[in-house]
Amino acid sequence: MISSGTQELTANPDGIERAADLLRQGLLVALPTETVYGLGGDARNGQAVASIYEAKGRPSFNPLIAHVASVSAAQRFAQWSDQAEQLAQAFWPGPLTLVLPLREGHGISALVTAGLDTLAVRVPAHPTARALLAAFDGPVAAPSANPSGLISPTTADHVWAGLGGKIAAVLDAGPCGVGLESTIVGLAGEPTLLRPGGVALEQIEQELGVHLHVHQSGDLLTAPGQLQSHYAPDAPVRLNAASRHGEEVLLGFGPVDCDLNLSVNANLTEAAANLFASLHELNKSGRPIAVSPIPDAGLGAAINDRLRRAAAPRDS
Ligand code: TXA
Ligand code: MG
Repeated sequence: MISSGTQELTANPDGIERAADLLRQGLLVALPTETVYGLGGDARNGQAVASIYEAKGRPSFNPLIAHVASVSAAQRFAQWSDQAEQLAQAFWPGPLTLVLPLREGHGISALVTAGLDTLAVRVPAHPTARALLAAFDGPVAAPSANPSGLISPTTADHVWAGLGGKIAAVLDAGPCGVGLESTIVGLAGEPTLLRPGGVALEQIEQELGVHLHVHQSGDLLTAPGQLQSHYAPDAPVRLNAASRHGEEVLLGFGPVDCDLNLSVNANLTEAAANLFASLHELNKSGRPIAVSPIPDAGLGAAINDRLRRAAAPRDS
């Protein structure tokens, strides 16, 4: 159900208990995670999950990530494996999502998986997310808390701007630390990178001791969420720009003359944390956005993935 008034909840024990209560009623709560704000609903409640799609205006073939409080909670819903154990030990809680075969009797709504026989699951590190998941004591389906196709939210204000009035509450815990969505690794078959994100590919390969297959776009069934145009500001975006052209505002990286800088010191972690907030900010200018070149190693791969989608041709 979508409510008309959206409550603003503070990330303290009262606010968290109230948020857990709203989730139990099948209502939607935007919650902070270390990556971006998520739009959470009870993953076992089909009505709640349907209202997530409704609030976001999201294509229904795009499955969602189930957020849980612990490894043992993940094991209740997904079939575990040695590789899952290795990655969970190394990176959970944290910005890594594992796609695993669903376990029999899982109880997860088919709307969460969009009918696939796999589940994307993660244990977030943000203390407020963890406290909420513990208080709720169940799986929370949560895509990024933005209207479908638009820039992901890294502050409660971003959530309000996109979804205010359409959801029950926003649990505000300030800006997100990582600023990029989780890395998604498929473990249902050969280990595959489905989406670059907050944990660098190199770290995952080092942990597993194998190279990951890298998802080819166009392979819609294994990573249905990989729509090409995504994270899109209103104006066109031009990448690898050495300087401004015409009306453009420049989003810089490193020591360049620009309108906003992702990281003056060319630090990729800082740039990741600033990426979406900077796009939100420059979007307000109404002018085309040019972006400095960003190296493709480590978190740079995830930053460039998001920027390529922001720059991709739009459907309409
Ligand atoms: O950091 C994050 O992951 C954030 C925070 C809120 O946790 N969430 C997030 O969710 O980015 P969302 O819904 O915007 O992206 C989920 C991605 C989509 O690309 C989707 O297609 C993919 O996960 N996905 C979900 N279930 C899948 C599955 N069974 N197989 C393959 N891909 C899946
Ligand atoms: Mg998203």
